Amino acid sequence: MNISVPKETVPGETRVALTPAVVSQIVSSGLEVSVGKGAGMQSSYTDSSYKEAGASIAEDTDELFNKADVVLKVQKPGDDEIAMMKPGTVLITFLWALSDQPLVEKLQKAEITAIGMEALPRISRAQKMDALSAMSSIAGYKAVLLGANALGKYLPMLVTAAGTIAPAKVLVLGAGVAGLQSIATARRLGAIVEAFDVRPAVKEQVESLGATFIDIPLEETDTETKGGYAKELSKETRKKQQKVLHEHVKNVDMVITTALVPGKPAPKLITPEMVGDMAPGAVIVDLAAEQGGNCEITRPGEDYFTDNGVIIRGPLNLPAAMPIHASQLYAKTIQALLMHFIKDGEMHFDFEDEITKQATITHKGKVVSSLFT
Ligand code: NAI
Repeated sequence: MNISVPKETVPGETRVALTPAVVSQIVSSGLEVSVGKGAGMQSSYTDSSYKEAGASIAEDTDELFNKADVVLKVQKPGDDEIAMMKPGTVLITFLWALSDQPLVEKLQKAEITAIGMEALPRISRAQKMDALSAMSSIAGYKAVLLGANALGKYLPMLVTAAGTIAPAKVLVLGAGVAGLQSIATARRLGAIVEAFDVRPAVKEQVESLGATFIDIPLEETDTETKGGYAKELSKETRKKQQKVLHEHVKNVDMVITTALVPGKPAPKLITPEMVGDMAPGAVIVDLAAEQGGNCEITRPGEDYFTDNGVIIRGPLNLPAAMPIHASQLYAKTIQALLMHFIKDGEMHFDFEDEITKQATITHKGKVVSSLFT
């Protein structure tokens, strides 16, 4: 069976689906791996290191897709990539299928078996395949570095001959995987950190990282789905939340926002009025920029100064800013998912299995994922 790894084509995507170390493990399990020429270059994995690991290097992209039984990618496939895959090819990548119906229809029509890295159930058995967490953690870490770079202040407290520097105050909104990593990173850099999340279960995790949890009593007691994700809040609850957050936002040097509700636009947590009350030089890093932003005036993909001198950063695809480790971790998760499907050297689909049932979006021309029922 041939596993192919093409070079990513989306602008700014520096990651690659497999690293040489993982290629070597897959090859030693008896499978054939082909890697597109230069596929790993932007994440510092050379063609020669893939060759040494036992992969063949494909110069011709058409041929690479054409002979593939399984294609491993990072980003959604483009129309040209779908056209190059033969019916029955298995594609494993981030698909974001729930919010991209046209893509699902194209994959269905092309009879591609498409498995979404974002579509795995968050159960213990699937933890080693959890690319979302691996990537969110990188984004959370990088967000603090971006914020620190834009802030004209130290993060730690310093006592120097030239005077004492007070530690910076950082507020993290949304304390899922990315938010918790932001809290840990800001704490390591010496900042005073507070955080808020709608899921009350998070309080203990926030406190165990040395941050203060902002308690906002919400009318809705049920803010969490069975899968452990946040639910969308009612308008009244959101207003109440914003009122409390306003008092915190205006007193901090840096706000990092990471709040998401699966399948919905990012919840708006920071209003223009709140930004207007922040001090000149304060920084907002909006990690939810890709889903429209947690701040109402974030410009996705841009950094800018507001009229009152606040810096708002709306970074996109932060894991691609750390491609060596992002690819290393992604490759391990995709390998674990691939191996979940392989029995006796072939891809095997058992739709009684919870992971297969949820993560397989299209199969044999049909939409089969339990996420769509
Ligand atoms: P996410 O990326 O979907 O959302 C980020 C955070 O934003 C979440 O903590 C969410 O509660 C919060 N949020 C949503 N709306 C908000 C609002 N209006 N105000 C403030 N915060 C808001 O979530 P992520 O990071 O992917 O994690 C979701 C859950 O899944 C977490 O409990 C995490 O620990 C859990 N998980 C479980 C795994 C497992 O295998 N058991 C693996 C990974 C995560």
